[in-house]
Amino acid sequence: MTLHRAGILGTGSAVPETILSNQDLENMVETTDEWIVSRTGIRERRIAKPGEATSDYAASAAERALAAAGLSADEIELILCATITPDMLFPATACIVQDRLGATKAAAYDLSAACTGFIYGLATASAFVESGMYKNVLVIGADLVSRITDYTDRATCVLFGDGAGAVVVGRVSEDKGILAFDLGSDGSGAKNLYVPAGGSLNPATSETVEQRLHFIRMGGRDTFKFAVKAMSSSMERAIASAGLSLSDVDVLVPHQANVRIIEAACERTGLPLDKVIINIDKYGNTSAASIPIALDEAVRSGRIHPSDVCVCVGFGGGLTWGAAAIRM
Ligand code: ACO
Repeated sequence: MTLHRAGILGTGSAVPETILSNQDLENMVETTDEWIVSRTGIRERRIAKPGEATSDYAASAAERALAAAGLSADEIELILCATITPDMLFPATACIVQDRLGATKAAAYDLSAACTGFIYGLATASAFVESGMYKNVLVIGADLVSRITDYTDRATCVLFGDGAGAVVVGRVSEDKGILAFDLGSDGSGAKNLYVPAGGSLNPATSETVEQRLHFIRMGGRDTFKFAVKAMSSSMERAIASAGLSLSDVDVLVPHQANVRIIEAACERTGLPLDKVIINIDKYGNTSAASIPIALDEAVRSGRIHPSDVCVCVGFGGGLTWGAAAIRM
């Protein structure tokens, strides 16, 4: 039973200063700016400095979301950090962020759903708020994908970047808020997007490092096909469960993996591209951070207005997918 309506009270994001351009990559692997732009839409991405960690950007994004919501850290009761590049295998990066923020009344844990992680986190936060268990929940999507990217593999290294985005989820009035979700998974596709070693199956050894097994492996073409289908059908299901139709959608905030995936998903559903937030040219694929960074930029630049119907949609490793329909 829903006791309260959950909504987004504030957004924030943080990205590294250092830019890795397509021209830089031309000097690292056999590729061209023309290939990268025409196949992916990416022109540059941000890369964290050595010594920095996912929690650094997660905490900065969270501080900005708290400020936008007008809340202090001790008003947060739960911190969820969606990431596939935690600072360490454990403890959870969410706990490191909890300490950094001084969120002394918050429980904290990480959530692993790759690029769909932010949507999964939003759904979890929303359920906690709707049930009355927590009033204010911080949801962070943060990844330093550069840390698991093989910069000798041209098929993957041109795609990814680093960053973090965050939202505060709390109680809102009945006429707005998070209206519906669609979440799904298909573990039979686990090996289309994965890091082979460093877990319990293949613990780190000098051999696994030598064989570069701590980096992302990806079946690019299969992932592309899956992504177009998953994004279009997931957004359609979320819109229908909210009791809305496609023409009610004011803004789409999709996961930024490849501009061609976004264009193909929009063509399939019939959503005009001028309603879509695209910033992949600046950041590449930042995994769990991509949707909350795009959402934050759209809110701050005035692309999203109060009362707009905004749909966030993503897909990623797992395989996983998810969409949220929100009245802002
Ligand atoms: N520069 C130049 N040539 C390249 C590069 C590069 N960076 N990368 C691959 N190529 C070559 C390939 O070797 C291939 O050459 P060949 O025909 O001689 O074999 C050719 O370009 C075409 O390769 P394709 O894989 O068919 O290229 P495609 O148009 O499919 O684009 C891409 C590849 C961009 C990876 C695309 O498949 C894609 O975006 N897939 C989805 C990726 C994705 O969304 N990942 C999500 C990650 S989400 C998460 O959870 C982390």
